[in-house]
Amino acid sequence: MILLTGANGQLGQEFQADFRNRELPWIATDRQELDITDPDRVMGFVKAHPITCVINCAAYNNVDLAETEREACRAVNTHAPGHLARAAREKGVPFVTYSTDFVFDGNSVNPYVETDTPRPLSVYGMSKLEGEKMAMQNHPDALVLRTSWLFGAHGVNFVGRFLELCRSRDEIGMVADQVSAPTCTRDLVRATRLLLEARAFGLFHVSNSGVASKYEFALEIARSIGWAGRLSPIDSKEFPAPAARPAFSKLDTGKLERVTGWRPPAWQERVREVVRELEKRDG
Ligand SMILES: NC(=O)c1ccc[n+]([C@@H]2O[C@H](COP(=O)([O-])OP(=O)(O)OC[C@H]3O[C@@H](n4cnc5c(N)ncnc54)[C@H](OP(=O)(O)O)[C@@H]3O)[C@@H](O)[C@H]2O)c1
Repeated sequence: MILLTGANGQLGQEFQADFRNRELPWIATDRQELDITDPDRVMGFVKAHPITCVINCAAYNNVDLAETEREACRAVNTHAPGHLARAAREKGVPFVTYSTDFVFDGNSVNPYVETDTPRPLSVYGMSKLEGEKMAMQNHPDALVLRTSWLFGAHGVNFVGRFLELCRSRDEIGMVADQVSAPTCTRDLVRATRLLLEARAFGLFHVSNSGVASKYEFALEIARSIGWAGRLSPIDSKEFPAPAARPAFSKLDTGKLERVTGWRPPAWQERVREVVRELEKRDG
């Protein structure tokens, strides 16, 4: 029985759809059923259930609010992966958790590999970097997957929000000076499964193939629905946000490809698929 935390988030819902399709048994928990910031609850819950693997999809993801809610952010992103990792290790089962491209400062000109030195620019990025360390300290075989710009057919994400904007506006500006790669939750679920099957542990980078600016990401969505409005590239300096973001944070997926023999598909392909699904579902 797989324990899923943060099961109602976008990645959690994608895992649930996958487990349903593959007829795997799982326990879905979110904040109400299992608040992962409570170490005693976490240990008690893992002990009390016949759990064979722990997959942590819970996170504090509000990058800007984290600048003022530092402790709330650290509780979920730094300390909780440590509690879950310890409980999984004591139970003798694998532990998987997720991190972010925002652990990097964005000054590189090449995609980041797992051995590159992180230097987060934000409270959120630092909280995730420290969470990686807590997970790996408390569980020597923890699997930590860094990913970027997550989107999918479930939950709240850039694709859904941008589609909403297209419905209500005919002119939109989007930052063109932040570059990474969108990553489809479906491919992150697949990468997790392949790495667990390969009994891999440690740090892996997972993103869809290719690179994009936020503007190019939005342009692909707009084209997928034949939006007739005007999308303009803008400079992030024109819209200062509380948290700094890396200018270039594409993750290199070579290690994932070598270990699993699988190359994630191009992000454009997945964006078109997800837009089709959302359009069909929401009319
Ligand atoms: N979204 C991205 O663009 C992105 C980019 C890079 C990395 N990641 C990482 O990828 C992973 C999955 O992200 P996601 O986008 O699927 O996240 P998400 O949609 O924001 O879902 C996170 C879930 O965690 C729950 N949660 C928060 N605090 C909790 C707590 N104390 N106990 C239990 N559950 C709690 C949330 O519940 P509430 O709604 O009640 O808060 C929510 O259901 C995370 O590790 C995230 O940091 C995401």
